[in-house]
Amino acid sequence: MKICRTVEETRAAVAALRTAGQRIGFVPTMGALHAGHMSLVSLAKTASEATVASIFVNPTQFGQAADLQSYPRDEARDLAMLQEAGVEIVFLPEVTTIYPPGHETIVETTHLANILHGKIRPGHFRGVTSVVTRLFNIVQPDVAVFGEKDYQQLQVIKRMVADLHMPVEILGGPICREADGLAMSSRNLRLTAEDRAAAVVLSQALQAAEDLAKTGTTVEAIRDVIANTIATEPRATLQGLDTVTADTLDNLHGPLTTPLAVMLSVQFSDILLIDQKVIQP
Ligand code: PAF
Repeated sequence: MKICRTVEETRAAVAALRTAGQRIGFVPTMGALHAGHMSLVSLAKTASEATVASIFVNPTQFGQAADLQSYPRDEARDLAMLQEAGVEIVFLPEVTTIYPPGHETIVETTHLANILHGKIRPGHFRGVTSVVTRLFNIVQPDVAVFGEKDYQQLQVIKRMVADLHMPVEILGGPICREADGLAMSSRNLRLTAEDRAAAVVLSQALQAAEDLAKTGTTVEAIRDVIANTIATEPRATLQGLDTVTADTLDNLHGPLTTPLAVMLSVQFSDILLIDQKVIQP
């Protein structure tokens, strides 16, 4: 596995694979890798012949300096996991490599970035699209994989790629869950034991919603069953519950007749966990 820290090294390493006729798959990450990330690597490997991963804790997508400081970092462990998974190239840039001194260019999806989670985390998706554009320009992948867990992020990136005619195919990787149903996330490591046990309520709420949808129901009844399930757990505070169309993320109401994306965010002490499910009518 080749480790590249500069734009030039990365471009040269990718070019060598491309010259050998290989289709390039890309998995951008912020490190603190877990089985969820590794499932994205597996998906990239099935969709390409050579896989590039990046590890970059992107400062422009963090609202608060404290969150950026406390973001878990373990480069040696991450590299060992990527090597084990058979990744060909890892791009590990410095902040000044991605954002050169004097940088002033941002990329933003003006609507999708500023609704739903974008309202709670102003500037977050602008930071994501600004970094992903830079990473795409450096790596120039044929296909890139993003987790469906960050559902709005996936839709924002698909919109950006379509709007800017970026020559890259975007694939969504299904959510990986712990044995009790909790969606895998690097944030889970920061939960207390009690909050970790309580956090199962997110997936339980989404499952209750899916079960209800099988009987034919309304969006309002789905919202109620989710809110009521979260309310059964005293350690959990419901922060966001969005019930929207699966692609354009417009609010849905009334009888469930089209696929419904449910995006849930729940606070445990100072940790915000998210989960989502697309529910079929
Ligand atoms: O999903 C993430 O880990 C990040 O938002 C991403 C896509 C790597 C951009 O920093």
